[in-house]
Order: sequence, then structure tokens, then C-alpha cells
Amino acid sequence: MGYQDVYDSWKSDPEGFWMQAAEAIDWEKKPSKALSDLGDNMYEWFADGMTNTCWNAVDRHVENGRGEQTAIIYDSPITHTKREITFVELRNRVATLAGALRAKGVEKGDRVIIYMPMIPEALEAMLACARLGAVHSVVFGGFAANELAVRIDDAKPKAIIAASCGLEPGRVVHYKPLLDGAIDLADHKPDFCVIFQREQEVAELKEGRDFNWHGFQYGVEPADCVPVEGNHPAYILYTSGTTGAPKGVIRHTGGQLVALNWTMKNIYNVDPGDVFWAASDVGWVVGHSYICYGPLIHGNTTIVFEGKPVGTPDPGTFWRVIEEHKVKTFFTAPTAFRAVKREDPTGEYVKKYDLSCLEQVFLAGERADPDTIVWAQDQLQKPIIDHWWQTELGFPGVCNPVGIELLPVKLGSPSVPLPGYEMKIVDDAGNELPRGELGAIVTPLPLPPGTFPNLWNAEDRYKKSYLTNFPGYYETGDAGMIDEDGYLYIMARTDDVINVAGHRLSTGGMEEVLADHPDVAECAVIGVSDSLKGQMPLGFLCLNAGTEKPHDEIVKEVIKLVREKIGPVAAFKLCCVVDRLPKTRSGKILRGTMVSIADGKEYKMPATIDDPAILDEIKLALQGLGYAKG
Ligand code: COA
Ligand code: AMP
Repeated sequence: MGYQDVYDSWKSDPEGFWMQAAEAIDWEKKPSKALSDLGDNMYEWFADGMTNTCWNAVDRHVENGRGEQTAIIYDSPITHTKREITFVELRNRVATLAGALRAKGVEKGDRVIIYMPMIPEALEAMLACARLGAVHSVVFGGFAANELAVRIDDAKPKAIIAASCGLEPGRVVHYKPLLDGAIDLADHKPDFCVIFQREQEVAELKEGRDFNWHGFQYGVEPADCVPVEGNHPAYILYTSGTTGAPKGVIRHTGGQLVALNWTMKNIYNVDPGDVFWAASDVGWVVGHSYICYGPLIHGNTTIVFEGKPVGTPDPGTFWRVIEEHKVKTFFTAPTAFRAVKREDPTGEYVKKYDLSCLEQVFLAGERADPDTIVWAQDQLQKPIIDHWWQTELGFPGVCNPVGIELLPVKLGSPSVPLPGYEMKIVDDAGNELPRGELGAIVTPLPLPPGTFPNLWNAEDRYKKSYLTNFPGYYETGDAGMIDEDGYLYIMARTDDVINVAGHRLSTGGMEEVLADHPDVAECAVIGVSDSLKGQMPLGFLCLNAGTEKPHDEIVKEVIKLVREKIGPVAAFKLCCVVDRLPKTRSGKILRGTMVSIADGKEYKMPATIDDPAILDEIKLALQGLGYAKG
């Protein structure tokens, strides 16, 4: 069957399509039906089935004769370590860890925050939670104590599992002080913490609250998998929205199992036993779906890579890992390829390695610029597949489905909608626009299994952010167009979310931090184009009247403040002081116009602008930072 046949078979019977995909999952009790309509545009999948994620990702492979197959390859050029864990070892390790968590009171439905770097123990912690039916929430290691505290207060975890440190090139990231700081800041306090002590840094443990990862597992009874309902939350993953308060995306157990398993062959073109590598981080959705769950559920070997595309030690790292571990499908972010291309434009490092095992490469997380795709095509001589998805969705919505059929690649487009999605372009009033016209990207409800059924503790926000503007549709927050062949083109976000080196960040969140500085009266943060990271945040500050402190000092202070409050991953380094911000007569800051000026693009003078002269002042300030050159 080609793509069109598969897509049509979904369209003619969506529930039958997903019920059939559910056959590939082990159920303690099969779901009696696929979809439950809860009314008011709320839906759930496989709600009355009973299953367990860890069973499907680990134990069943042992039962089915894959016990000796490598489940996880840990490759850390930062620590010069390599390690392999088979499915049987993984099962034993996870069962013991789950047993130890249970002995300390963690049960089905309890939340557990995981704050760990790219080490196999991060996956083991996730799987141990899944084994018990506990709901994990992984927090990215680049986030600061304040961000962690916000998540602790929202998720209210019974336990936190953390590592003593993370490792960035040339820098140890001291996780334990960040964790302690977050717990101090948060109103909610976990019952206990489990600390994995890395040899690079042994953290001090707080008597009575903190337990050593190894010590606390000693002598415990391993835990069996606890069957949970198909609509039981598997995890919460916080992602950036328009404000500083992150959105807690919920993933349900049954839908995630069915959808991720389906994608491994149909999209990523791997069979059980093949090696699949997503070079992302467990703190992001790509890490959840395609470092941990997807490959393991499907019986693939996954790679936990603790390193960077360049500098660990050179731009050949990706190719070395692919050759050494026989990677069949590789998934990374365009920014990572831009980093490699910048250091090795002619592919000298590519030539050093035998990449015959590699069959296809997938890119996601941000727009894949045609230059980068062409460079990768030239160097690797393999299909380079751009695909589009979001934390909310959990797996790709628009993709060239290589495992079904490799469709013609169109540069700049992630290709066509997958089963479950029917992308439409609409105007502000929700009218569908003709092919080739730019508008908001929406897809009809219900979303397919494996996507988010709700936001944690925030049903109103869920409905308001995603379901209200275009009734009957899911609003993606992206704008774009569809061409005459049905290929989608993603052009921009429609909200204040920016994408920095594949990391999704909220400019609203950064503005909240800037506004906290005592000398700042008003501020705005925009995302300007960056040739390496895609976008970079850039802040404008208007100071209180009578502020005497030198401007450059205030700029340095707010840059430090964003790093402390949000984290280094915000990459907030560009900031300037201006007298006024350009606004509409109703007081809305014209961020879009400022972005166009910064990027040197043509822009129309907004008809509602309060005072056009301000734009000249903004341009001058931007030129001072090396932007607005056009
Ligand atoms: N823990 C702690 N700090 C982290 C971190 C982590 N897990 N990840 C990044 N940081 C820090 C970096 O050390 C850097 O700190 P610095 O300001 O002191 O230099 C800062 O956050 C910004 O990081 P980043 O934007 O990633 O830039 P970089 O210069 O370190 O690396 C790239 C640039 C392109 C090589 C890198 O961003 C990359 O590999 N990106 C791929 C992104 C990706 O996989 N995204 C997932 C979606 S698929
Ligand atoms: P995240 O939730 O971090 O995965 O970020 C999702 C957002 O990243 C999307 O809404 C898009 O704005 C952007 N994005 C992800 N993949 C792509 C892609 N292939 N092309 C363009 N933008 C993308």
C-alpha cells in the first residue's frame, strides 16, 4: 500500500484504523472501542483497555526472545564512556528501581519529577515510573531552579529523581544545588529525592530527604508491571506557551503505545532489532517519544548520546556514532546540521566514516532551511526528511512517510499529513483558504491517539489555547500554506513562542523576567533570525524615569537574570535600552514589525501604529546589536 492508500484507509474509518494498529500492543484487557467522545470537544483513546507501557517497551521483548538484544547504547563523548544494556538487563534494572520507589510509597497516579542529563538512568527512571503507573514529568537539565520550582508546584510530585550533575562541554552543570534551590522556592515539597551520583560530581545529600540511587535500591523486591487504563496519564511534559507559566502536556498510556509503535515502521522505516538514533534530549518531546518510548516499544535499539554535534570532539561525532553502532535511521534538529556544516562545509569528516548502514535522516523541531537539507543530501547521499510535529502531538503530524512510501521531497516542506491529521489553512474567521494562501494551520478534532487529551490542571487553558478560536479544530499555533500537491509549508508561529536551536521558548516568559528588574518599566522580547540557531531572543528595555545606573550595567544584569531564572538554554544574550516601544493605538506592542526590521525584511507600516518615528529609534538600537542591516 502506498501513502494515499494508507491515508484513505484511515480517513474512511479512523477508529478501525487505530484499532488495527492497537493489535501490535500487548493489552492486559483489550479496549472495547477506540474513541470515547467526552463531549465539549474532549476525546480519549482506548480508555477502557488495560495495559502497561513498561511491559510493552521492555518485558515483552524479553518474553519474545529479544532479551539479549541491546536495548540502550550509551555513547558519551563528553565522558569518554560507552555502555550497552540488553533488554533483559534493562528489565531487571527497571524492576528493581520501581520496587525501590514503591517501597518508599510511590504508587499508580503519583507524580515523579525526573531531572537528569543524557544517561541511561534517565530512561530507567522513566520506565520505572511507567512500570508502577506513576506519572513522570521530565524537566530538561538546561532549566534553572525557578523553572523546576514552577513544575514542582504544578505537578506536585511525591518524589524527584535527579542526577548529581550534567555535563556541558567545558562545564559541569551542578544539578543538586539547582534541585535544592527549586525545592526551597516551591510551595509543594516532595516526600523524597533519589540522587544518581555521577563520578564527575558527588553531591551532598540531605539527611532524611535524599537517597542515593544505588543505596536505596539495595535489597528491595523488584516490582512487576502494574496494568493501567488506556486513558491513564503516562507522563506530563511541560512546554512553553505564551506566558511564563508552562503548559503541562498530558500523554495517555494507550494512545502513546499505539501511535508511537505505528510510527516506527511507517514513518521511520525501522524493523524490530534495527538501531534507531534520535540525537535530542530526554527533556524534550523528541526524547520522550524517540529516545525512550518509540524505539523500545517497537523492539529497536536506541542510543543515549551525551554530546554535541560539534566540539565533542569534532564535527565527525554524528558520523562516528552512526558507523560504530550501525544506525539505520537518524533523527536530529536542523540546527545541529547547521553547526556541523559550519565547521565541516565540504564534509571532510563525513568521508572518514562508513555510513552504509544509514538509510534515512529525519529533521524536526524547527524549520529545515533548504540550504541545510541540500548540504546534508550532498554529503550523505540519503533521503533527508523534514517532518513537523509539536510537544502537544507527541509524534509527527506532517511527514514524508518513508516506511510506507518515499514521496518526492520538496525543499522547505515537511510534506503531507499523516493518518490522524487533515491540515487546513484558515483565515482569522476560520474560513478555509485556497491552496497557496497563508493562514493559521488547523486540523479537525479529534486528534489521533498519542496526542494530548488535555493540559495538567488546566482544562480551561487547554480549551482556550487550542480549541476555541476555530471550533471543531485543533489550532496548531503555526501559520503556513498548502501547495497544489497538498504539501504543507510552515512559515511562522502565530503566538509568542520562539525556537532557539530546536528548543521551544516563550518570549512572554523572558519578558516576565526582564520586567522583574527594578529599573525596567516596560520591555519586549522578540525572536530574530540566526544563521545557526534559527532564532535568537532579543530584548528591548524601557527604563524607569530617573534611572541613573549605566544602561550597559542594566543590560548585563537582565541577561544574568534570565540565565538564573529560566536557564542557559534560553540563550538570552542580546538586549538593548530604548526610550519607547512601538505600539498600536490600543497599546499592543508591535513585535512582528520589530522582527521584520531586525531581520532586514520589508515591512508595511502598521495602519494602527501610534507613532511611526519610534520604528527609526528601534532600527538604530537594533543596528547597535548588529541587526537591521537591510
Ligand atoms: N543542561 C544544561 N545546560 C544546557 C543543556 C543541558 N542539557 N543544553 C544546553 N545547555 C546550555 C549550553 O551549555 C549553553 O550554555 P552557554 O550559554 O553557557 O554556552 C546554552 O544552554 C545554550 O545551549 P544551545 O542553544 O544548545 O547552544 P550550544 O551553543 O551549546 O550548542 C548546538 C549549539 C546547535 C550545537 C546545539 O544547540 C544543538 O545540538 N542543538 C540540537 C538541539 C536539539 O537536539 N533539539 C531537540 C529538538 S529535536
Ligand atoms: P516543540 O513543541 O518543541 O516540538 O515545538 C513545536 C514547534 O516547532 C512547532 O509548532 C513549529 O513551530 C516548530 N516546528 C517543529 N517541527 C518543524 C518543522 N519540521 N518545520 C517547521 N517548524 C517546525
